[in-house]
Amino acid sequence: MPWFRSLVLAIARQPWVERLVRESSLTLPVVTRFVAGESMAEALAVARALADRGFATTLDLLGEEVATPGEAAAATQAYAELLNALSDRGLDSTISVKPTHLGLRLDPTLARLNLERLARLAQRLGRRVEVDMEDSSTTRATLDLFAALHTTYGDHLQIALQAYLYRTEGDIDTAVARGWRVRLVKGAYAEPATVAYPTKAAVDAAYRRHLETLLEYGRFVAVATHDEAILRVARGFARRIGVGPEKYEFQMLYGVRRDLQEQLRRAGEPVRVYVPFGRQWYPYFTRRLAERPANLVFLLGQLVKR
Ligand code: FDA
Repeated sequence: MPWFRSLVLAIARQPWVERLVRESSLTLPVVTRFVAGESMAEALAVARALADRGFATTLDLLGEEVATPGEAAAATQAYAELLNALSDRGLDSTISVKPTHLGLRLDPTLARLNLERLARLAQRLGRRVEVDMEDSSTTRATLDLFAALHTTYGDHLQIALQAYLYRTEGDIDTAVARGWRVRLVKGAYAEPATVAYPTKAAVDAAYRRHLETLLEYGRFVAVATHDEAILRVARGFARRIGVGPEKYEFQMLYGVRRDLQEQLRRAGEPVRVYVPFGRQWYPYFTRRLAERPANLVFLLGQLVKR
């Protein structure tokens, strides 16, 4: 429901709404359902618990749209510490970074230096940096950044592509031609119909098209969705063309459809859980609310009870 998403995200941007929700802090069950905690120690404990149950993870230090180069440097440093901690613990974990957290909006060169620092460290540790895709005003710069570093760091980098954008048709071709590892998502931001499909049916159809192309011709695809119909299509198609876990994995968000995560894991499928943590949880949290009316109703119920 793109209109619901636009409405929720517009309301969530109002300073008084943010104040109201943030003051209720991380103690609200509806927040802790989606966010693993505020500290790296809490996120590592969640990653360990998930690993013990057979899940791989990707850890996202929440933050975006930093205002100064110093904040971008601090985020990069924290991510470097996270990569080292994951490596020390031998966890099957990647990191997920948002380009605007590394300074993309301030200066693309700065973001490139920061991302390169993480890519170099990931290469040295035998790990991977997954680059999240943000709103459409950043798509071109994010892809330029990714393409430039991919030539040196190859599979130590992975890029998210959003099925709801019209332009993704062409970006999938580029990804196939250049051997990029792709995380395929539907897209979580409020976008106008000039750049993104305005209906859920059209987004789902685009997702299926891109998924089949990536499974057949791509380097690797992380099928990042909780959509059961698409998951069925993905598994069926992979079986039919004879590709296995060397070519794909399923990815789902922490706190979303845990039953489905378990079901896939029990069926022997590779599942990676996206684990967000940190103090800057508000924008991420509002995108989760905007995906599902029931989440918003649940939040309102909890705020009223306070
Ligand atoms: P859809 O919205 O059709 O939902 C299918 C079903 O999943 C629903 O019926 C419901 O059961 C369940 N569900 C979905 N969202 C839920 C929620 N918030 N709460 C409870 N249940 C929910 N986006 C982006 O723009 N850039 C990115 O980099 C990423 N990265 C990313 C990584 C991973 C691992 C995942 C799973 C998703 C992303 N996304 C993302 C988010 C993505 O674009 C999309 O908004 C969400 O995955 C929701 O869409 P679904 O594909 O699940 O389908």
